[in-house]
Amino acid sequence: LEKLPKAPWMKERKGPVVLVIMDGVGFGKFSEGDAVASAYKPTLDWFLANCPNTRLKAHGQAVGLPSDADMGNSEVGHNAIGSGRVFDQGAKLVSASLDSGQMFVGQAWQDVAGNAAAKKSALHFIGLFSDGNVHSHIDHLKAMIGQAVKDGVKKVRVHILLDGRDVGETSALDYVRPFEEFLAQQRGVGCDARIASGGGRMFITMDRYGADWSMVERGWQTHVLGEGRQFANAEEAITTLRKDTGAIDQDLGAFVIAENGKPVGTIEDGDSVVFFNFRGDRATEITAAFEEDNFTRFDRKRRPAVVYAGMMEYDGDLHVPKRYLTNPPVIDRTSGQFLCALGVRTLACSETQKYGHVTYFYNGNRSGKINDQLEEYVEVPSDIVPFEQRPWMKGAEITDVVVKGIASGKYDFIRCNYPNGDMVGHTGVYQAAQIGVECVDLCLARIKKAVDKAGGVLVITADHGNADDMFEHKKDGSVLMENGITKVKTAHSLNPVPCIVYDPAGQGEYKAELREGLGISSIAATCINLLGYEAPADYDPSVLIPR
Ligand code: 3PG
Ligand code: CO
Repeated sequence: LEKLPKAPWMKERKGPVVLVIMDGVGFGKFSEGDAVASAYKPTLDWFLANCPNTRLKAHGQAVGLPSDADMGNSEVGHNAIGSGRVFDQGAKLVSASLDSGQMFVGQAWQDVAGNAAAKKSALHFIGLFSDGNVHSHIDHLKAMIGQAVKDGVKKVRVHILLDGRDVGETSALDYVRPFEEFLAQQRGVGCDARIASGGGRMFITMDRYGADWSMVERGWQTHVLGEGRQFANAEEAITTLRKDTGAIDQDLGAFVIAENGKPVGTIEDGDSVVFFNFRGDRATEITAAFEEDNFTRFDRKRRPAVVYAGMMEYDGDLHVPKRYLTNPPVIDRTSGQFLCALGVRTLACSETQKYGHVTYFYNGNRSGKINDQLEEYVEVPSDIVPFEQRPWMKGAEITDVVVKGIASGKYDFIRCNYPNGDMVGHTGVYQAAQIGVECVDLCLARIKKAVDKAGGVLVITADHGNADDMFEHKKDGSVLMENGITKVKTAHSLNPVPCIVYDPAGQGEYKAELREGLGISSIAATCINLLGYEAPADYDPSVLIPR
C-alpha cells in the first residue's frame, strides 16, 4: 500500500473528522410517504441550509449493482463508502457466473451436485425467496435447480425464507405460485423437487451480527429437523399463517411441508445443502450451525453430515463458508487500510443491527480489525423488539459513545451508523419511521455541539434511502391503495442521499459548492482529504473542490 501524501491545501483541524451514516435516510421524490421530509428535524434542516452539501447516488450501478432498477442496500453502500470505489457486487457476480456457466464447472458445485447425484440423496436449497437482489435472487435458485437436474440430481428440497422486506410486504405468493409450476416441470423430467419448509426471514434463519440467535435455532428446527406446524404446501401455509396472525411476509411464522404427518424434506446425513444468499451478514450464523464442530449457540439436537456450500465467501477474514460457489468482489485498498498505514486513530460505533455494517462491510467484508492499536470498534447491544415499538433504538447510546470519543481527544477519525431510518423504515410503520428520523436529528444536535467544542469536522451522509419512501406508488406517481388504505412500502428506495460537510473550523480551503453528480463512494476520498491527506489516485473523487 502506498503512503498517502499530505494534502498541502488542507489545514489541520484540532478535532477529529466525524462521519455519520444515517442508515436509510434519503431525499424522497414523492410528497406522500416521505417520513424524512415530514420529520421534525431542525438540526438536519439547519445543516442543509447552512453547510456545503450535495446529493449522492446510492443505488444501481453507482454502487456496483446490475442495473439502476436495483435499490441500494447497506452492504454495497458501506462497501462503497469504506473503499472509495465501486466494485461489481454479489448480485452481478453471481448472475455473470451463472450466465457463463462458470459456477457449474467449479469444484464447489461439483461437490454439492456430485454428492447428491452419486448418493441419490437430496440437494437442499435454503435462502431468501424473492427477486430483491439484496441478499439473493430467485433466478439464481432456478438456474441452479435446472443444472442440478441436468447433473443427475434426483431429489431437490427448497427451504424458502419469505421476504417482504426487499420486495412488496405481502408478495410471497407472487413468487411461490410460478415457482411451484417450475418445480412441477422438474418433476416432469424425473427430479423429485419440492418446497420443504419456510417462514418469514425476520422470524427464522436470517439473523445478523448475533442479534438474536433464537431466530437461527427456529430456522434449524424448521429446515433441518422438520419440526413445526405442518401444512400440505407452501401456499396453504402462507394463507393460513396470514389469516391467523395478520403478519406481513418478513414476520410470518415457520412452516414445515408434510405428507401424512411426515415432513417431506428434513436434512439428513449424506445430503447436500446450498445456502443461496450471496450477501453475508445474514448468512454466516446458519452457516456456522452447519459447519462448526464445536457449535454452542443452541442445541442442534442432530447435525446431519452434509456437503455444505454458500453462494459466496461471506467473510474474507474468517474464510466462511469453507465451500462457496462464487468468488466475492475483491475489495482491496480500503480507506481503513490507508488510514491505519498513516497512524490515524479510529473509532467505529453502531448498535448490533448495524455494527457489522460500519466495521465488516465498511472494511470490504472483513470482520476483523485492521490494526488493534489504532482502532476501536464499539457495539451497543440492540433491543430485541419490533423496532416500530422502539423507533429511537439505541440512538442516544451510540451518541454517548461518539460524543465521548470526540471529547476524549483519542481519535482522529470517528464513524458511526444510526440504523433508525432503515430498521424502522423496514417495518412499514410511517409514524415510527418519522420518529426514528427525529431521533437521529436529536443525536446530530449533540454531535454538532461536541464537534464545535473539539474543533473537528462533521460529514453527514447515508448508505441508501428507505424512510424517505414509505408508500408504494403507481407508475403515474399516485399512491397505491389496497382495501381503501395506502399500501406501505418496507423496502429501500432508489433515492439519492445527503452529503453534508459541517466544518466550523474550516479556513476556506475548498469551495462552498461541492462536486456534483457523484455517488457515495466519494465519501472515502472526502474524509481522507478532511484528515489532511490526498486520496489514492484510483479512488472516486472527493466532493471537496480545493480553492
Ligand atoms: C436487511 O437485511 O435487513 C434488508 O434486506 C436490507 O437492509 P440493509 O441493506 O439496510 O441492511
Ligand atoms: Co435496510
